[in-house]
Amino acid sequence: MSLTRKLCSLGSHRVLEPAGALPQGARKLDATPVAHANEILCDVEALNIDSASFRQIVEASGGDPSAVAAHVLALVEDRGKHHNPVTGSGGMFIGRVRAVGEQLAERAGVKAGDRIASLVSLTLTPLRIDAIERIDMATGRIWIRGTAVLFETGLYATLPDDLPDDVALAVLDVAGAPAQVKRLVHAGQTVAVLGADGKSGMLACAQARERAGAAGRVVGFGPDRSTAAAQLLVEHGYVDAFVECDARDVLCVLGKLPEVLPELADVTINCVNVPGTELASILLTKDHGIVYFFSMSTSFTAAALGAEGVGKDVTMIVGNGYAKGHAATALQTLRDHPPLRRYFIERFGAAAIATAPPVVPVS
Ligand SMILES: NC(=O)c1ccc[n+]([C@@H]2O[C@H](COP(=O)([O-])OP(=O)(O)OC[C@H]3O[C@@H](n4cnc5c(N)ncnc54)[C@H](OP(=O)(O)O)[C@@H]3O)[C@@H](O)[C@H]2O)c1
Repeated sequence: MSLTRKLCSLGSHRVLEPAGALPQGARKLDATPVAHANEILCDVEALNIDSASFRQIVEASGGDPSAVAAHVLALVEDRGKHHNPVTGSGGMFIGRVRAVGEQLAERAGVKAGDRIASLVSLTLTPLRIDAIERIDMATGRIWIRGTAVLFETGLYATLPDDLPDDVALAVLDVAGAPAQVKRLVHAGQTVAVLGADGKSGMLACAQARERAGAAGRVVGFGPDRSTAAAQLLVEHGYVDAFVECDARDVLCVLGKLPEVLPELADVTINCVNVPGTELASILLTKDHGIVYFFSMSTSFTAAALGAEGVGKDVTMIVGNGYAKGHAATALQTLRDHPPLRRYFIERFGAAAIATAPPVVPVS
């Protein structure tokens, strides 16, 4: 790759179109696998596709793993990154550092051979896929052969020694959720978590329980109270109640409130992976309370106009995937809660790899 543009700490030198964009806003990136002076080049082992994005791709591919593989390959080939144009979201990767550019050699904190997880979105990460080896349709994990580039300002974490890599990947993908819950929830408060039995939802419930304490109340919402995750949340007291309902069905959510939430929530955390749940989140929350929209399916207009339409004076927070120390907080949440740790290992650990059938590489 002959580079004529000046190297930029934000990665704008990798933008192919449109001119003037930064990588996240770009339509297309140059994913040539070299490490420029201010870049880190990695051999990628697995992608953790953002849940909202993976769900959309699976639906568009009719649930067929080979069609999902073809879809992902075509998307990455077209854009030079995994940036789903429908959901606008990406995911993150784990891999091994192949080369560190000379400007970063002293300060990167990693060297060739180290295994890392990216903590910036795939929507801004130059990515090349040579082959897709396996897809776990249940978790959105895709094992590939390929390369990715991290910029000077990109965030990454070396993988912890005490957790399987695949588990760390699942946790780090949603690290912003438990970290923000830790900031937002206080002792004695009432907390509602939508999508409570997903990855971010479970970590959010555990953090909310810790912060709200025994005097507080944590209530989870999800479409199926019989899932292993929902049962674990109830059994181990991470939630005081798990309400079975479709969060898109506002009237159903409201109808359940008298039995589970004697008073509306001080803080509501939205961790669902489908659109159309803004109003339920808003209506679950008391005036002057906080709604934290971690979900990538959130619509700004639906939230803003929805709150106005029902006369709710709530503070709504966009779910920034980054919070200082979020990776450490998320991993520690798992370490501090053995039942959660066991569940994540069973669901996202090596067993998942063993059961994910190989897909026909379509490269
Ligand atoms: N802000 C950020 O930086 C960031 C980073 C990563 C992910 N995210 C987003 O955060 C959200 C959660 O991610 P995740 O990885 O935790 O996803 P996940 O593990 O797939 O969990 C999603 C949860 O939502 C539940 N759900 C689906 N439809 C629902 C409905 N109609 N009503 C109530 N609950 C419903 C799912 O239940 P079932 O499994 O029973 O369907 C599941 O428990 C996604 O939107 C993802 O894109 C945001």
